[in-house]
Amino acid sequence: MKTSNGFWGSLKRPILALAPMADVTDAAFRRIIAKYGKPDVMWTEFVSVAGLLSPGREALLRELLYTEAERPIIAQIFGNDPEQFHEVASMLAEMGFDGIDINMGCPDRNVEKQGGGASLIKDPIRAQRIVRRAQEGAKRSDGTIAPVSVKTRIGYNKVELDTWLPYLFEARPAALTLHARTRKEMSKVPARWEHVREAAALRDRISPETLVIGNGDVKDVDDAKHKAAEYGADGAMLGRAIFGRPDLFGQHILTHEERLRVMVEHTRLFAELFTGVKSFSVMKKHYKAYVHSFDGAKDLRVHLMETESAEEVEITVTEWLATHTLPLV
Ligand SMILES: Cc1cc2nc3c(=O)[nH]c(=O)nc-3n(C[C@H](O)[C@H](O)[C@H](O)COP(=O)(O)O)c2cc1C
Repeated sequence: MKTSNGFWGSLKRPILALAPMADVTDAAFRRIIAKYGKPDVMWTEFVSVAGLLSPGREALLRELLYTEAERPIIAQIFGNDPEQFHEVASMLAEMGFDGIDINMGCPDRNVEKQGGGASLIKDPIRAQRIVRRAQEGAKRSDGTIAPVSVKTRIGYNKVELDTWLPYLFEARPAALTLHARTRKEMSKVPARWEHVREAAALRDRISPETLVIGNGDVKDVDDAKHKAAEYGADGAMLGRAIFGRPDLFGQHILTHEERLRVMVEHTRLFAELFTGVKSFSVMKKHYKAYVHSFDGAKDLRVHLMETESAEEVEITVTEWLATHTLPLV
């Protein structure tokens, strides 16, 4: 099948992408990011294709909520059965996602047990079939298509770009994001971007229209631009760098006080969208990242760890701001 790049073709280079991160880049945080510093493209958290086809799909659909302000927005899915990918791709295309991304890099044991995520690196024929069936499914009733992309790693136990990536490129995905570590390395060693350069060279030979996006240890937008240029990638994807920094991709750097107010807004949105679906403890990870680098930050974090609702967080922060003066940066 010929690549159809859809929205990808209209993005400026280098493409600055926000990584999918389960329980981090959820519908609430994405709305905040779209408002305070929007990347060129965002991904949802990953969602199971089997789950999306099961009667209990309501909670999963909540993870796929998006607003127009987040466009272009890509739905990320994982699984093992090409036919399920076909069906779900059609559903997601009809739901209006700008693109569909297939996770072939997640090391989570539950995901791998279902034959999804990084375990697909060990079954490249199936992986290729999954991409092709998803592409065949990703058509909207108005005749347009949702381009299919893949996010993967440089290998399973060892670097195996030459034997793994050709299977993916032969299916002509619109984009390939390469997390420059093996499955075995998890996130424990520094990402090796030289493999992104090798992936781009393979791409040139097999599927020139496919965009290559490098991922791993990118600190900020300047670092992203620098790495994309140095390693010949079409773009760079940033993950953990967004923790506590909703302005990461923005022009305006938030002051400490603004950051605390955004944290409250984020919490309110989380409560509105996820009460009864996700545990409030998910927000606590964010508090650790939002509250740092000013006198008394530790005390405020301790108070926030004891909160159990958006109202309590708002009161805690309002009282704090009334009794403390924060430095601007
Ligand atoms: C908390 C967390 C959740 C993640 N969830 C996903 C996910 O749902 N899908 C995915 O493809 N990668 C996921 N990843 C991996 C990231 O997308 C990214 O590849 C990785 O963090 C390396 O990029 P970084 O060094 O910029 O963080 C997750 C990473 C973290 C830290």
